[in-house]
Order: sequence, then structure tokens, then C-alpha cells
Amino acid sequence: MGWTLLILLVVLTVVHGNPTVMVRTGSGPTVGFDQHPNSVPLGEDIQTTTEGESEVVEEVMTTGVLNPSHYPARRAATVVQHYLNTRYGSPYRWIFLSTVHSGSAEEVAEMGRKYQLALTMQEMISNVSGQCSAELFFPGGEGQSAPQVQASCEGLHQSNTTAQEEAFYQQHRTSNNLASGNNIPDSYGHVEPSMKPFWHLGGVASSFIMLRESNESTLYNMAQVANFTQLETEKDQLRFNYHVLLHEMISQEIIHWKLLVTWSPEQGVQVLQTELQPKCHHCEAPPNTTN
Ligand SMILES: *[C@@H]1O[C@H](CO)[C@@H](O)[C@H](O)[C@H]1NC(C)=O
Ligand SMILES: *[C@@H]1O[C@H](CO)[C@@H](O)[C@H](O)[C@H]1NC(C)=O
Ligand SMILES: *[C@@H]1O[C@H](CO)[C@@H](O)[C@H](O)[C@H]1NC(C)=O
Ligand SMILES: *[C@@H]1O[C@H](CO)[C@@H](O)[C@H](O)[C@H]1NC(C)=O
Repeated sequence: MGWTLLILLVVLTVVHGNPTVMVRTGSGPTVGFDQHPNSVPLGEDIQTTTEGESEVVEEVMTTGVLNPSHYPARRAATVVQHYLNTRYGSPYRWIFLSTVHSGSAEEVAEMGRKYQLALTMQEMISNVSGQCSAELFFPGGEGQSAPQVQASCEGLHQSNTTAQEEAFYQQHRTSNNLASGNNIPDSYGHVEPSMKPFWHLGGVASSFIMLRESNESTLYNMAQVANFTQLETEKDQLRFNYHVLLHEMISQEIIHWKLLVTWSPEQGVQVLQTELQPKCHHCEAPPNTTN
């Protein structure tokens, strides 16, 4: 039967070399929404990612109206996600791409390329979602500079985390026991409840790097907080050293960065220093096989 063959072929295509599937299994066997929100934006539409696969190979920069479920639109939308986290993220507010509704891209007279997007974003702790319209500009030419993003969202700010943030801040501001942790989430995708705010903060801080490092050919995702240590509070800012593992999904590379991160309810998250860690054989292994 022609039908059976066709369906079989489609199934085989889905099973073979789908980057999304590899990422999800790499993050642990029992990854749920709660434990690993990183899988949400991509996990939602596995088939979509499969369709987009050919584009990875071809590296086509699509111009005009974009298919909202293909890589060019989703890569640009993920950059907006990082931008929103740099603006609004906190230990209790971490924003993810939920849906791309529409998108278009155009060349800007030898200057670069501009994207217009309509998106639904979701704040993963409160689960509040909001509608965003965004404009992105990827500068072209030699020497990469960060994409420029403008976005306006409705609804996302309904998550009022003032009370939780204040309690967390007071708990850690004068603590004689400086916090630290490692392998968040662990090999099974699990995060201890007490570690969640530190994981969110690591994810938000990672967005500063992912925003800066993104171009039209990348798709970054925070894979794991390898470890973090709290430093003495200075000028009312909580301070942390983070070592994070970022996953670049197009090249399938795991990239290590060390960050100096500060946070307070008033000043928000700031990333004061970033240091790319050298590649090494050990570092190439996915997080769940390093220990
Ligand atoms: C989060 O919200 C979505 C709808 O926006 C809903 O389908 C889902 O069940 C919610 N999840 C949780 C954990 O509340
Ligand atoms: C958030 O809640 C706090 C009380 O927990 C309140 O004082 C504050 O006005 C609220 N902020 C917003 C923007 O609703
Ligand atoms: C995009 O970034 C990657 C990783 O930094 C780099 O290898 C690549 O050359 C960049 N592409 C463009 C078009 O700038
Ligand atoms: C943090 O994790 C990285 C990568 O696994 C490791 O090289 C580094 O020694 C760790 N640092 C601390 C302070 O544990």
C-alpha cells in the first residue's frame, strides 16, 4: 500500500537525527515541564523541528514571510526570549518562547537583516503568558555584533513576584552561609526545590550571553548550571560566580562560560563579567555523561 509506505517513511524521518529528540534525551530520561523548561520551546513541535532540519543543512536565510514553525523564525524568536530575560528576568521570573504566530525578514540595504515577529511568550514559574510583537536587527558585515531587539508584550507582567523576591533577597543578603550548588538540573533532569531560584538566575544570566552571541545561524539554549558560588554581598547586590553550559543546537556544541552575576530586587539581574572557557575533550560531553 502506498499509504503505509509513505507513513513509514515519515516516521523514519522523524526518528532519524532529529536534533530536538537528541537534546531532550541528553537532558535526562524523565524531563518534565517543571524540571526542565528549556525543553519547552522546542519540545512543543518536534515535527516542526524535523521540517526545519533541511534548513540547517542548507543554511538558507529566508526573506519575506517566514513559516512560523521553521528555524529562521524560531531562531529569531529565541533571541527575543533572551532579550526579555535580560530585561525582566529574576530568580522568580524566567521567560520562554511558547509560540511563533507570524514572522517576516528583510534585507536592510547592506546593513544587515531585520525580522518582525508576533509571539506568545510564557513565564515559566507563574505560567503566565503574554503576546509580544518584536523587531530584531542582525547587523551584517565583518566582526559580529549583538542583535538589536525591540519588543513590547502584553500580559507577561501579571506575574507579581515581589513578595518571593524580597524573601529570597533577605534570606541571602546577610547570610553567613553563602549559597552554592552544582549540576542543576542533575542527570535525571531533577532540581532540588531550594536550588530552583539559583537555577532560574543562572538561566536568566545565560540569556545575556546568548543574546550577545546570537546570529542568524545560531540557536542557543541553557543546558545546565555546572556550579555556582555566592560571593559576599556588595552595595546591596547579591553576587554569584556561575559556571554554565550552553548548548548551541545547530553545531550541537556544548559551550562553557563563567559569569559574575549580581541581583537585587531593585537593580535586577546584571552580568558584570563573562569568560568563555576553553574547549576540551571533557567539555564536549553532554551534561548527563560528565559525572
Ligand atoms: C500552563 O498554562 C498552559 C496554558 O497557557 C496550560 O495548558 C498548562 O496546563 C499550565 N501548566 C501549569 C503547570 O500550570
Ligand atoms: C505586587 O504585590 C505586592 C504585595 O505582595 C504589592 O505591594 C505590589 O503593589 C504588587 N505590584 C504590582 C505591580 O501589582
Ligand atoms: C554566528 O555565530 C557562530 C558562533 O559564534 C559563528 O561560528 C558564525 O560564524 C556566526 N555567523 C555569522 C553569519 O556571523
Ligand atoms: C564548575 O564546573 C566546571 C565544569 O564542570 C569545573 O571545571 C569547575 O572546576 C567547577 N568549579 C567549581 C568551583 O566547582
